[in-house]
Amino acid sequence: MYYELSDGERNNRIVWASVRATLERFRFKYKRGGFKTKSKYRLFEKLLLLFGLMLKVIGVYRKGVQNAMNINIENIEVESYSLPQEFKGFRILFLSDLHIDAIDGFEDVIIKKIEGFSYDLCVITGDFRMDTEGSFRKILPAVKKIVDAVKAPFGVLAVLGNHDTYLMVEPFEAMGIRCLINETVFLTKNKAKITVAGTDDTYYFYTDKAMDVLEQDAGGFKICLSHTSELSDVAARNNFKLYLCGHTHGGQICLPGGKPVISHQKSSALKVKGLWKEGEMTGYTSRGVGVSGIPLRFNCPPEITLVTLKQKNR
Ligand SMILES: [Fe+2]
Repeated sequence: MYYELSDGERNNRIVWASVRATLERFRFKYKRGGFKTKSKYRLFEKLLLLFGLMLKVIGVYRKGVQNAMNINIENIEVESYSLPQEFKGFRILFLSDLHIDAIDGFEDVIIKKIEGFSYDLCVITGDFRMDTEGSFRKILPAVKKIVDAVKAPFGVLAVLGNHDTYLMVEPFEAMGIRCLINETVFLTKNKAKITVAGTDDTYYFYTDKAMDVLEQDAGGFKICLSHTSELSDVAARNNFKLYLCGHTHGGQICLPGGKPVISHQKSSALKVKGLWKEGEMTGYTSRGVGVSGIPLRFNCPPEITLVTLKQKNR
């Protein structure tokens, strides 16, 4: 399916790209609460390298890499009164945090995993690359390979994460990924429709446009795609029924039992992974397909999620 950009969206993207370019160029981090002046990510990365070295010394590094490649399939069902009959059983292949260049050949692991599944739509909630800056071109062949392997009649929709650059949008769209840059698309079946709205990343690159797109009331069954759960209150207030996000990696390196050591999320520990509720809205935070910082996972398997939409009976 091809989701054409309106003239208004084209104009908005020009403004958005110039703002995003400035934030990226000067490494400004802007959040809903204001500027984030000091990023501790570089220090965090250095600590992770030290941690990795320590794991190599004690001989468990290889196990962590194996864990990172052992992708689980999570099947979830979302029930709603407002789902049109035509979309009953509609399936979404939900991928988040691919960080595709973190492990060599990881795209082939993903492709093998999704082989044989049937779904109607694929959504990707950001963080395509490992680094947060520098060239992204090296990831394009791997992303294209995945997109080519995805067989979704309603196509591939994606939002950017805090590791992604605005420059990715053009090559992604050329390979068939429709990016939602604070934009909305409508999926139609016969005369019925559902809405999918996607925001730009709000962890580093928040602008009020991300909020605005969630405040347009299209009615009916609405899905929000966002890299983090940070706008879940806005989405719930505006009658979204489903909110899909990632970013936390479920902690990536967790204590036995799955308790995250670090989740990169200050608010609401309840939204670090899996299903959650915000008012009437159902949310789901993916543990992510890939890894960042260090290519390891412990007590927190990577996931590919299959979401099935169901009609709720009154
Ligand atoms: Fe990520």
